[in-house]
Amino acid sequence: MRPTTVYAHTRFQIAPVDPRIFGGFLEHIGRAVYEGVYDPDCGHADEDGFRTDVMEAMKRQSMTVMRYPGGNFASGYHWMDGVGPQTLRPTVRELAWQSVEPNAFGTDEFIRLCRKMDWQPMLTVNLGTGSPEEARNWVEYCNCPAGTSFADMRMGNGEEMPYDIVLWCLGNEMDGHWQLGHVPADQYAIRAQQAAKMMKDVDRRIELVACGSCSVDMFDTYMEWDRQVLDYLGDYADYISLHRYVGNPEDDTPDYLAVTNSIDQQIEEMDAVCRFIQAKRRSPKRTYLCFDEWNVWYKNHETDGEGKFAPPLVEEVYNLEDALVVAGFLNSFVRHADSVRIANIAQIVNVIAPLMTRGDELLVQSIFYPFTMYAGRREGTALRTFVDGTGYKSESYGRVNHVDAAMIQDDRKLHVFATNRSTDAAVPLRIVLEDRPIESLVCAEILTGGGDPKAANTFERPDLVGKKPLQEIKVAGGRVQCFLPPLSFAAMTFELEKW
Ligand code: AHR
Repeated sequence: MRPTTVYAHTRFQIAPVDPRIFGGFLEHIGRAVYEGVYDPDCGHADEDGFRTDVMEAMKRQSMTVMRYPGGNFASGYHWMDGVGPQTLRPTVRELAWQSVEPNAFGTDEFIRLCRKMDWQPMLTVNLGTGSPEEARNWVEYCNCPAGTSFADMRMGNGEEMPYDIVLWCLGNEMDGHWQLGHVPADQYAIRAQQAAKMMKDVDRRIELVACGSCSVDMFDTYMEWDRQVLDYLGDYADYISLHRYVGNPEDDTPDYLAVTNSIDQQIEEMDAVCRFIQAKRRSPKRTYLCFDEWNVWYKNHETDGEGKFAPPLVEEVYNLEDALVVAGFLNSFVRHADSVRIANIAQIVNVIAPLMTRGDELLVQSIFYPFTMYAGRREGTALRTFVDGTGYKSESYGRVNHVDAAMIQDDRKLHVFATNRSTDAAVPLRIVLEDRPIESLVCAEILTGGGDPKAANTFERPDLVGKKPLQEIKVAGGRVQCFLPPLSFAAMTFELEKW
């Protein structure tokens, strides 16, 4: 195959990479909270009932920010049900997933977990069945010093110091008809503005995420919803949310791997609405993008909990091609570092997740690895990349190069991320930084599954898809040469010559 060259120049910068694009999402759904992160009866439980095996694995992914408690769950959730002595908390019929919710895990447990994991918490308020005032009260509970009723309630529950939670989502997927309390854009905008004002009146430091379109193709309100909401919310909208779940229902691997074009497009379209509203309002304030739900999800549609506690719901099994698509999402966020400031993979354990538990056992799925490969390589400034090489025309997303790439420069370090989408050919890859010689290789790893797009880890064979060191990288004359095996994702770090 003809070589592919990835060109960049240190002066052609996109923006510093916001570490919050490497976030996750924990919802009360299926076995995500109970049996996933919280399971006092598990052999691995710590003194707070959190699963240490799950926590250790999640630490390797090094997520930065964690969204909670939903998702659809948030639109029927009353946060007061989940605080105070556990024995006094109500067990409720949960309508988003038709499950039973005992409320044993709530705000205080979530914050404790965040502290152990070094996650920045991000809370979604209930703008479905809840009121703006309930949202305002939650901010007081979390962020205010003692002396007023909800802050004192937190004190009474054993937490003297405020949690100082900065990131708050103004509801979830309110444009979706499945959402509890779904309303048209104009009505959502009013609700969100009322909540936003009261929440910010309680704590001026908080940052708010408005609900954007939850799908690019399901509703004809795409973009129009966002325009209306942003126009009405004005400066209250620090961020607008994007959601995206993708899949390969037609079993067409090359087409599936080309979905990155469409992810890039979704980001650029949403940014365009933000810039349009900013210009129309002649405002200095720019609303940034918060991609607060994204992943591969198309195989398992079990969403009815049938009135059970922690039923197994949407336990998607992930394979190699899914992991390459997950890497493609991360590459796309880096390429759009100027507009995407926060992103949360949905979700973290058991429910459409990189990790699966079975009793006391834990399985690492294929989509776990792109995060671990970005961890340790994500600080710095995203550089513009130009990919010159072979490619193909996909069925749904237009032409793509075989290689999907992103680059981050951190002083003398250069991090390069490259996916080979070819199903049958290794790509000879060159990396050229036009204005600075690359001096040496620091380390490089590659995610493979023996070239089989459907290779998936199981409890019986947990190592079919995984990462290993990438061999045979030559650095000569200030440039890099290597080979990317078919269907693989590489993460490489180089040292640049002193300037
Ligand atoms: O992540 C699962 C669900 O997907 C979320 O609850 C919802 O927001 C989305 O539809």
